[in-house]
Amino acid sequence: MHMKEIKLESSLIVHDNLLAFDEKTKELLLASRKAAKSAYAPYSQFYVGAAVLLEDGQIIPGNNQENAVYPLGLCAERVALFAAHSINPDTSVLEIAVTIDYDRIDTDQAAFPCGSCRQSISEFENIFDRDIKIYILAKDDKVLVLDSIKQLLPFAFTKDLLNKK
Ligand code: THU
Repeated sequence: MHMKEIKLESSLIVHDNLLAFDEKTKELLLASRKAAKSAYAPYSQFYVGAAVLLEDGQIIPGNNQENAVYPLGLCAERVALFAAHSINPDTSVLEIAVTIDYDRIDTDQAAFPCGSCRQSISEFENIFDRDIKIYILAKDDKVLVLDSIKQLLPFAFTKDLLNKK
């Protein structure tokens, strides 16, 4: 048979609380939670917060920013990533945390980054040639941890494919 199957495997770790994390990562998680409080989401009322940890220790927060012209809105993850990279273009991204405001959103579910944000996280893994740890802060301090966006975005489109002659 002139074909083969390629099987994909993905994994993540689920923590029941924040105890296992170092101080910097705890700070990152709390920064994402704080950012969700000031999300500008009057249309969806879905309040998302994110925070990015850079290699020099800086933590840059972001939250979703909506618009009366609905499609213009931007997700929390990209607000944080783009802010971080616009101010620190040469500093690599180590970690990103994302959460939603569980005080205002009645759900038990964890909020995974959308497809566009996965692609944007992938871009920063690629340009700095370094995996980015992803923390999804869920309800009641549960935390989902992924070692790389590759766990959420296999077969990513990257810059390596561009400009080939
Ligand atoms: N949103 C985020 O901020 N991050 C995601 O990964 C998913 C969705 C925002 C976009 C919009 O403002 C609201 O949540 C509802 O989709």
